[in-house]
Amino acid sequence: MRTQVAIIGAGPAGLLLSHLLHLQGIESVVLESRTRAEIESTIRAGVLEQGTMDLLNDCGVGVRMRAEGALHHGFELAFDGRRHRIDLLGLTGKAITVYAQHEVIKDLVAARDAAGGQMFFGVREVALHGADTDTPAVSFEHGGQALRIDADFIAGCDGFHGIARPAMAQQGRQDYQRIYPFGWFGILVEAPPSAPELIYARHERGFALVSTRSPTVQRMYFQCDPKDSVDNWSDDRIWSELHARLENREGWRVTEGKIFQKNIVGMRSFVSTPMQSGRLFLAGDAAHIVPPTGAKGMNLAVSDVRILARGIEQFYRQGSDERLQRYTGDALKRVWRAEYFSWWMTSMLHTFDDASPFQREVQRAELENVVASRALATALAENYVGAF
Ligand code: FAD
Ligand code: PHB
Repeated sequence: MRTQVAIIGAGPAGLLLSHLLHLQGIESVVLESRTRAEIESTIRAGVLEQGTMDLLNDCGVGVRMRAEGALHHGFELAFDGRRHRIDLLGLTGKAITVYAQHEVIKDLVAARDAAGGQMFFGVREVALHGADTDTPAVSFEHGGQALRIDADFIAGCDGFHGIARPAMAQQGRQDYQRIYPFGWFGILVEAPPSAPELIYARHERGFALVSTRSPTVQRMYFQCDPKDSVDNWSDDRIWSELHARLENREGWRVTEGKIFQKNIVGMRSFVSTPMQSGRLFLAGDAAHIVPPTGAKGMNLAVSDVRILARGIEQFYRQGSDERLQRYTGDALKRVWRAEYFSWWMTSMLHTFDDASPFQREVQRAELENVVASRALATALAENYVGAF
């Protein structure tokens, strides 16, 4: 089998890349180790920056997002029993949309399907060959058959645990990493929204986040031990922890409901450079990870493939690889700013067991500064909506 671009991974990065290339008349094949049902139901991110929304709209996959996503013009920072609004629209002229990642996945898979795009789900034994030559290939197993795809380029969009990053040339590689000593306990709840906008809360017992999915389903998180098990958390224990962390002098309380999903995710910051090795390019979580506090993970995957698709398009249109050669530098500018912002939000809002009393007070003062200073609130808002 032959194609122009072999794409490993049907996450937001791989599927959107395939779709953007298709719109430019460039052929690709997507290989995904999980089933279609699995990728369309895995609960992950929820916040789309304005630039992500604009891109999904511009490339014709924004219909359901516009109808079912919730446009948010601000969010709240809660600490010391009070809530403070960050007016995203007023401070930046931009907004965000809350629309679940697996809904974006469904929209992209449907678009690829409608265009006759080739996707292989449930593949096994994916291996890359000749990535440093002009004739790279991917071999894999599908339905018990051994298959091979020859391509001009390979896009490693296979997430943090994929096989593409380890297949990159190791000479000159540099990885940057920080693992945080906490994780997030996430729940899905059948309930009406507790508040009109997202609430990021700092409390001595740890961070908590009130997010949403729809008028009837809510998403909430709280800081936990990354090695803890969901089995240790009865529904009652979860609610009492959330009430404690979100306690509020204005008498507001989070609205309880039936919890129908619980999971724990670890938190890390990670960047692997370069993002190119010969004809192999990494995009999204395959190359970098952010802690979810800044809501940047999926948005970075989208901005990587926007840059990569333009480079591949230039290669086929003009026979030039000038943009492709700049890919690492161009993508990393955005990545490092998001790494900074995600680290900042995480540091400002979580409790650190080893923090001294001095560090705790300084952390609180930082939040007070952010809500008191229009300049600092604007910087936060610009980063959150992805204004640059
Ligand atoms: P992924 O979405 O990881 O997609 C990679 C795909 O490649 C997967 O479908 C995987 O099955 C497939 N794959 C892996 N290996 C192979 C292989 N060898 N062959 C073929 N296919 C392969 N961000 C937030 O902003 N908020 C959140 O709440 C949040 N929660 C998250 C929870 C979890 C458990 C994880 C892992 C991430 C979360 N993120 C969150 C981050 C965000 O979801 C990611 O940044 C985003 O999914 C990145 O998209 P991607 O396409 O690069 O990678
Ligand atoms: C979510 O709704 O899943 C969500 C929202 C904001 C974040 C992270 C996750 O910062």
